[in-house]
Amino acid sequence: EDTLRDLAAQNGGRHFGAAITYNPLNNDSQYRDIAATQFSAVTHENEMKWESLEPQRGQYNWSQADSIIDFAKSNNQIVRGHTLVWHSQLPSWLNNGGFSGTQLRSIMDNHIETVAGRYRGDIYAWDVVNEAFNEDGSFRNSIWYQGMGVDYIAHAFRKAHEVDPNAKLYINDYNIEGINSKSNGLYDLVVDLLDQGVPIHGVGIQSHLIVGQVPSTFQQNIQRFADLGLDVAITELDIRMQMPATDSKLQQQANDYRAVVNACLAVSRCIGVTVWGIDDERSWVPYTFDGEGAPLLYDGQYNRKPAWYAVYEAL
Ligand code: XIL
Repeated sequence: EDTLRDLAAQNGGRHFGAAITYNPLNNDSQYRDIAATQFSAVTHENEMKWESLEPQRGQYNWSQADSIIDFAKSNNQIVRGHTLVWHSQLPSWLNNGGFSGTQLRSIMDNHIETVAGRYRGDIYAWDVVNEAFNEDGSFRNSIWYQGMGVDYIAHAFRKAHEVDPNAKLYINDYNIEGINSKSNGLYDLVVDLLDQGVPIHGVGIQSHLIVGQVPSTFQQNIQRFADLGLDVAITELDIRMQMPATDSKLQQQANDYRAVVNACLAVSRCIGVTVWGIDDERSWVPYTFDGEGAPLLYDGQYNRKPAWYAVYEAL
């Protein structure tokens, strides 16, 4: 039987990936087997974030991040590095440090040198900047924006390119699946970065979606970024529903997954799809969105859901 990763590879050399986490990977053999066999790309769900890597200034915890890199190597998987510059999941020494713009620039440089330097050669693509936008398309007022202004973005990409010139460098965000104010803001920024010669190679469309609400302009939106000469990846796909799950919601979810995969497959520069977790039980959704859940391809007992079969058929 073909796996999802085989089918994606046969379909234009694409990857089909999953976000994985250290804990089930090391103590749950069913989880580990599915992670190894069905997926050709992995993203650290949390282990590569700043608060995980450097909880105290200058004291790094590499073991969990390294272990996922090793897992990917042994299973011939690419790694999407997630993420270098973000406003969230920062250690409190940084978030509450009251640093000046000049200090933040050097902290950012040091972080990119240390992290992207350590993993140089191991990372297929970095999410260099994550979630830079507000819903209206303006820039999010993060510590980076406050301290360094909008140039923090170009600066981060230039630094990442200097440190790991072979990694594909992405900007990544959510609620940019369809054509809307936020994706327009991103589009304008990307055009501007390309004009300035900033080394940016891809747009990551997170795709944390809701059952029955896949935007109708998804494919058109992917296409306009591809037309700028960029790769596009679906980086964090999940499609949640109001609990409890019913057969009809699970069927709608299968149709929604099929629609997302087809939107990607219709654009040659859409080079892969990553789902944000393997099974419903271990998804971030129930912990994050009150009353919602069941967003992934496997249920909590690792049974394949209708959405799994829909993806299989679409690929
Ligand atoms: C989420 C993880 O899944 C959770 O375990 C964690 O508690 C919070 O972050 N956008 C991103 C991801 O870029 O890093 C987030 O991951 C989900 C939203």
